[in-house]
Amino acid sequence: MTVSRRDFVKTSVLGAIATAAVSNPKDSVASTIATDQGHASQNDAKRPIIICAHNGYAYVEAAYAFLKSGGDTLEAGVRVVKGPENDPNDDSVGLGGLPNEEGVVELDACCMHGPTRRAGSVGGVRNIKNVSMVAKAVMEHTGHVMLVGEGAERFAAAMGFPRENLLTDRSRKIWMLWKEFNSDRDWWGPGIADPHWQAPAPSSKPQADLLRDRIDQLKQRAVDLGIEQQFLLSAVRRVLFPPTGTIHCSVLNEKGEMSGITTTSGLAFKLPGRCGDSPIIGAGCYTDQDVGSAGATGSGEENIKVAGAHTIVENMRHGMSPQEAGIDALKRIMRNYNGDMNKLRFMDMTYYVLRKDGAYAGVSLWEGYSAGNPHKIVVHDGTLRQVIATPLLKGYSQEWPPFPTIPEELKKDSEYLK
Ligand code: GLY
Repeated sequence: MTVSRRDFVKTSVLGAIATAAVSNPKDSVASTIATDQGHASQNDAKRPIIICAHNGYAYVEAAYAFLKSGGDTLEAGVRVVKGPENDPNDDSVGLGGLPNEEGVVELDACCMHGPTRRAGSVGGVRNIKNVSMVAKAVMEHTGHVMLVGEGAERFAAAMGFPRENLLTDRSRKIWMLWKEFNSDRDWWGPGIADPHWQAPAPSSKPQADLLRDRIDQLKQRAVDLGIEQQFLLSAVRRVLFPPTGTIHCSVLNEKGEMSGITTTSGLAFKLPGRCGDSPIIGAGCYTDQDVGSAGATGSGEENIKVAGAHTIVENMRHGMSPQEAGIDALKRIMRNYNGDMNKLRFMDMTYYVLRKDGAYAGVSLWEGYSAGNPHKIVVHDGTLRQVIATPLLKGYSQEWPPFPTIPEELKKDSEYLK
């Protein structure tokens, strides 16, 4: 059955959410933050260590070997993050990243090189997949720190980065699904002349049932668009909760040198030209090897407003542990909404924090997206492992747009939630 775009009945669900939301911020603050002061590196200070987001896991072992052999800290970070950039199946970064609202992939990245105290950044770059390396090239080959848009793309081409179409077939289909889902006010999707078009029926169903209907319709439409069976639920979830997937990596070597790097395709289906936190030095990444390095994945707009990575490094400069420093930045996000859980539950943030002595922490606003899927960071200090991030708030975030609950079958979408 073909489902018309006009079957996707828009519903206001804020009232239902308000009922379900935690009303007292204090009730929601995770108890762990008072006691756990973060992790020491397994071994002596200045043993090499790499920390990064979960999607870097497969690339850390080789980067760590490079670091141990005397490789540069920023180059080690590049070796981690360019893995997901090159992976067409990672739709949060580089090739195959989810596009903007016009179906065009736009990438952001920035880096800081501790030993030379330099930085580079690019925002809104089209047609070039390894924007982490372009950010590094801006740092190394220009007198600037940040290039954006067409100028950044032309610089990358001049530096020899190949131009290519970054929109994979799967990401294009997910974007089409999103277009059609949101198309009751535009001309995308099957129109009134389509033989399967049906006028939306007025409904007195409860909100949860309406959501269930919409998911069923989305799944059917995803089948119609040719999205493979194993990605149906991922596609539906991305349409309902546009992700802000990203990868950050911070690195420390035996000499005490540090670097940080962050790269992303940003918020899925964003307005063209939107830059999140990832290309903003001090928000998506900040490194001062006299103190430490930090980076972020999550709601870019919120992180920009608290200058998250810089705030964390400065907190450590003033004596906070990595975990205290990260939790403080999260509290600033909470303060920006006066602790209003009705709003905070629709954003999330994970900070990756590495101090110059090798102590590290992963902290997050919420425990994860759903029960059983906590936020994790990847750590390699001789042993490669994943560590559960310490949450500021008890419970699980839901991403924008708001819905009353995440249905169980979407929670099982482990491909997305890992
Ligand atoms: N943190 C990635 C973004 O919001 O663009």
